[in-house]
Amino acid sequence: MKKQIIVFDTTLRDGEQSPGASLQRNEKLEIAQQLAKLGVDAIEAGFPIASPDDLEAVKLISKKIKGPAICGLARSLKADIDAAYKAVKPANRPRIHVFLATSKIHMQYKLKKAEEEILKQAVEAVKYAKRYISDIEFSPEDASRTEPNFLFNVIEKVIDAGATTVNIPDTVGYSIPEEFGRLIYNITRRVPNINKAVISVHCHNDLGLAVANSLAAVKNGAGQVECTINGIGERAGNASLEEIVMGMDTRKDFFDKKTHIKTRHIYETSRMVSRLTGINVQPNKAIVGSNAFAHEAGIHQDGILKRRTTYEIMKPSDVGFGETKLVLGKHSGRHALSARLKKLGYNLKENELKKAFERFKQLADKKKNVYDEDLSAIVEDQMVSVPELYRLEYLHIEGGTQSEPKATVKLRVKTKSVEATASGDGPVDACYKAVDKITGLRGKLLDYSIRSITSGKDAIGEASIKLTVKGRVVTGRGTSTDVIEASVKAYLNAMNKITSSGSSKLKQCL
Ligand code: KIV
Ligand code: ZN
Repeated sequence: MKKQIIVFDTTLRDGEQSPGASLQRNEKLEIAQQLAKLGVDAIEAGFPIASPDDLEAVKLISKKIKGPAICGLARSLKADIDAAYKAVKPANRPRIHVFLATSKIHMQYKLKKAEEEILKQAVEAVKYAKRYISDIEFSPEDASRTEPNFLFNVIEKVIDAGATTVNIPDTVGYSIPEEFGRLIYNITRRVPNINKAVISVHCHNDLGLAVANSLAAVKNGAGQVECTINGIGERAGNASLEEIVMGMDTRKDFFDKKTHIKTRHIYETSRMVSRLTGINVQPNKAIVGSNAFAHEAGIHQDGILKRRTTYEIMKPSDVGFGETKLVLGKHSGRHALSARLKKLGYNLKENELKKAFERFKQLADKKKNVYDEDLSAIVEDQMVSVPELYRLEYLHIEGGTQSEPKATVKLRVKTKSVEATASGDGPVDACYKAVDKITGLRGKLLDYSIRSITSGKDAIGEASIKLTVKGRVVTGRGTSTDVIEASVKAYLNAMNKITSSGSSKLKQCL
């Protein structure tokens, strides 16, 4: 019988550690709901000691999400464990994840502690957490660079202290699959009480090997994989959930393992995480990239037409990937729109559908063919999960190759309309300066990109930006058939995140 592999998702904790990915509380809840729908077994919802906001977000998820275990991260310190417990206490299946570094380099330079002190601290932390709840995970941080005999000893002692999962992190993405697989195998052989705990793995992608290392570990006895949607996370990211799951699913013959993941929800989950974190998915990303199922070469297209399996090892529909079909035009009605949106996984309330239909009609007037991706863009654009203090009402640009661009922007701010004009290095810069005049905030752009959602001159453009405002990094996203409008919407989305999180006050004059 196939062995069940536990899927532990850390998008909301390690994934949120991606530069600029900071999520609001309600956005975290939205992602947690989607992860539960996807079928993950455990959600690491945050690091509660890190900030009161993080603690509250984990608590909210613990209260609302039934099904997966909800986990809070803690260093091996009482205050951290107390905070983690406070946050996960309302969950049906609470888990505390305690960690402490065990590699020589971390012990010597970061913690300035000897092996015996580390061992003692790890055991005490697990015992302390165990007084609260039974489901305790322990991670010897930087395990893959830890002296193996010391690692085996730590694992044995934390299991004796009550750890039910021992997680082996490749913290800096240093391992090579064969070597990491061997480490897991050696743990199964050299730790006498290992059958009392689940072996988990947590791989980072610094050498692009996070998924390969995780799968090598599964092949050698790991029972849990830690991963994130789209592989987001610290530096080069974490092992990607969709790649690990589809690897095991597509190569059942090799792995002989199964998971609870409902793979048809993968694509919509990927889109949601990308939209809410502001981190784009690269087009050639395995499983969820926009080119993942595109066949360009004539020989390939010919092969696919003769028999799909000549060049496709997975069905796009198995991961919920749309087929970029021509779906609707300007004569399509509300019922057709609603039916198509349901098929794409959006169950809108009556008022949301009304709004989506209005935008669909506006789009269909500008654009002859409306594709699934266009519809997703419309719906996701209106699903703004931050309160919209600033909303674009009007935009006018003057300029050309010989004159400095000038922008007039009118925003709805609460109940008032406020207008400002500014010049800039380009039309987008001029618009942003005009917006700054209205908000009284000053955004410094770190990253700016535009991509077209479908092909053709009339395609919807999606602007993604990252900026700093008052020392905080924030992302924003906006869509429109006009790229300047999409850019302004992205900027306002970022400003709305800043204002809704309380880091700015409304300008005095408003
Ligand atoms: O990468 C790492 O080592 C971690 C631990 C906290 C598990 O994220
Ligand atoms: Zn990590």
